[in-house]
Amino acid sequence: MKIIVTGGAGFIGSAVVRYTVGILGWNVLNIDKLTYAGNLSSLRDIANKENYAFLKADICDPNTIRKALNEFQPNMVLHLAAESHVDRSIDGPAEFIRTNLVGTYQMLDAAYLYWHTLSDEKKGTFRFHHISTDEVYGSLGEAGFFTEQTPYDPRSPYSASKAGSDHLVKVWFHTFGLPVIVTNCSNNYGPYHFPEKLIPLMILNALDRKPLPVYGNGNDIRDWLYVEDHCKAIDMVARSGRPGEVYNIGGHNERANLVIVKTVIDYLNKTADRFVDETLIKHVDDRKGHDRRYGINPEKIKNDLGWYPETPFDQGIIKTIDWYLNNKEWVNDVASGEYQKYYADRYE
Ligand code: NAD
Ligand code: TYD
Repeated sequence: MKIIVTGGAGFIGSAVVRYTVGILGWNVLNIDKLTYAGNLSSLRDIANKENYAFLKADICDPNTIRKALNEFQPNMVLHLAAESHVDRSIDGPAEFIRTNLVGTYQMLDAAYLYWHTLSDEKKGTFRFHHISTDEVYGSLGEAGFFTEQTPYDPRSPYSASKAGSDHLVKVWFHTFGLPVIVTNCSNNYGPYHFPEKLIPLMILNALDRKPLPVYGNGNDIRDWLYVEDHCKAIDMVARSGRPGEVYNIGGHNERANLVIVKTVIDYLNKTADRFVDETLIKHVDDRKGHDRRYGINPEKIKNDLGWYPETPFDQGIIKTIDWYLNNKEWVNDVASGEYQKYYADRYE
């Protein structure tokens, strides 16, 4: 199997690259612009493997993407490159429109041109797999879950740009016949998660005994999915997913933000620093347009492909916190000058 992964130096992308190169032994070309969120230090374990190559490129640059496709001749494109942080999208939407919408269009256009050069047999087995988010469905109330039939109702610049990209991908199937698959997943967590996001931010702030900024009352709910379970889902979709289909991938694991923060505090207090306690929690202004609850019903991918989220949250969160305790060098690498400035502007 030869695949191109875009965004393979980010949080989920690097997990996918480590999984496909290291565990599945696939031949992988990772295309990534290395924005603030892309870090080659996340790929040290596999960087020298023969079945892995890296190309620093912007997905909005059509010539480079077309050339990469023609030269590498992949069986599949796994498209993860995106601007991914909701708070940043509220502060500055432009880059989200550029990468998530225009970039996805350029990827589709290049993939379509390449696909036309393939034999009929290879055309049939080629896949363009677009990785998207459950945030495209909007915000849930107390009851109910997102399914593949839930109407789109994005409410942040980030989710609107991802919703638009999903529509573009589906158009390339319906209008042009490109064999695409879209997956919409819930909030991932695990090692190598960039510290701007809730779980790593809380772990690292607590270890520095800095305030733990909880937006609003902390009762907002996310459905947490361990990143390696997500990689296994992507593998199953690659093997058995049907072109034109959408699969929702969720952890079946809803937690209020405050519960997450208290879980992190509790574990660090017991294992790393007895001065980490709930007095560090600081309720701060709520996020503009904050989505109250996300929750996926993962029945379709379970019934059609046999995938289910294997990692119980209690185990996944311990693995994650232990990883941050043991990988301070990575944290120092990625929490660079740009991140320090972002953190100071937002939280101080
Ligand atoms: P991330 O921000 O950690 O990584 C994004 C990667 O894309 C980085 O390596 C960055 O350098 C690269 N990139 C950004 N702009 C680029 C461009 N113009 N050209 C090439 N590369 C570019 O994101 P993530 O959390 O790993 O998310 C990956 C994908 O999964 C995204 O499409 C995101 O929308 C989706 N997703 C993420 C989550 C989550 O919980 N993290 C949940 C649902 C869906
Ligand atoms: P985040 O990790 O940014 O993911 P998303 O917004 O894509 O779901 O945020 C997860 C939840 O945590 C969300 O409800 C916002 C909240 N949050 C805080 O309370 N404080 C923080 O400092 C951050 C970054 C997020």
